[in-house]
Amino acid sequence: MTNDQSLTKRPKLKNASSSVRILTKSPVRKIVIAGNWKMFKTQVETQDFLQGFLPHLEETPPGREVVLCPPFTNLNVLSKILHGSLIQLGAQNVHWEDNGAYTGEISAPMLTELGVRFVIVGHSERRQYFGETEATVNLRLKAAQRHGLTPILCVGETKQQRHAGETESLITNQLDKNLIDVDQHNLVIAYEPIWAIGTGDTCEATEANRVIGLIRNQLSNPDVSIQYGGSVKPNNIDEIMAQPEIDGVLVGGASLEPASFARIVNYK
Ligand code: PGA
Repeated sequence: MTNDQSLTKRPKLKNASSSVRILTKSPVRKIVIAGNWKMFKTQVETQDFLQGFLPHLEETPPGREVVLCPPFTNLNVLSKILHGSLIQLGAQNVHWEDNGAYTGEISAPMLTELGVRFVIVGHSERRQYFGETEATVNLRLKAAQRHGLTPILCVGETKQQRHAGETESLITNQLDKNLIDVDQHNLVIAYEPIWAIGTGDTCEATEANRVIGLIRNQLSNPDVSIQYGGSVKPNNIDEIMAQPEIDGVLVGGASLEPASFARIVNYK
């Protein structure tokens, strides 16, 4: 597979009937709403957030998985407070070795011991600022799965790549390399166009739906939950979640404030 082959050229559908695109959400695919706190919130701030946020979960319809991915330093306190609640814990990165001389890294057993269930892998900020490569993303995905964590793999294009018409080939290449020997039955994918992250410049819901459909066509398991991420806000969540291919969202900025994340989790 070369970089310039588009996702649309990769027929993975096994028979004619399955090539008809279903217009309602699949009942099989999980809805996963995840907050990525990035490098925000101390433990005290985390407790304040929960006080404001937890009461809203009483209105959350069944069947939605709510995941919080705080900085590592908050995982311990959150795992105690959230025990038995609707919220599942996620981390923002994981190393591929179980232990070793890797200053500054955290391993999967360290996360699972705290009750962490999900881990974000290959976020564009890690790819851009911390030298994450397709190969290290693949290693982290496999390590997470080996220990029973569900990785949330982030893929997406820059503005420049989009303008050059490279969105499809770029994502195809990311998926091809990232998913080698990865179990697609314990995986969430987030389509995060880099130009939409933290900019307020959300991708059109229908365009996000289109790209996510193309991603799905490239998978061997069509039931992988695929999220959209990039400036998801209370005022666009309903339209995003109304799209048939979109199974959830990965939320940065708007997950930091209890009322706005609650509105996203309780989308209509
Ligand atoms: P944003 O971040 O919602 O602030 O755009 C999304 C992300 O980086 O996952």
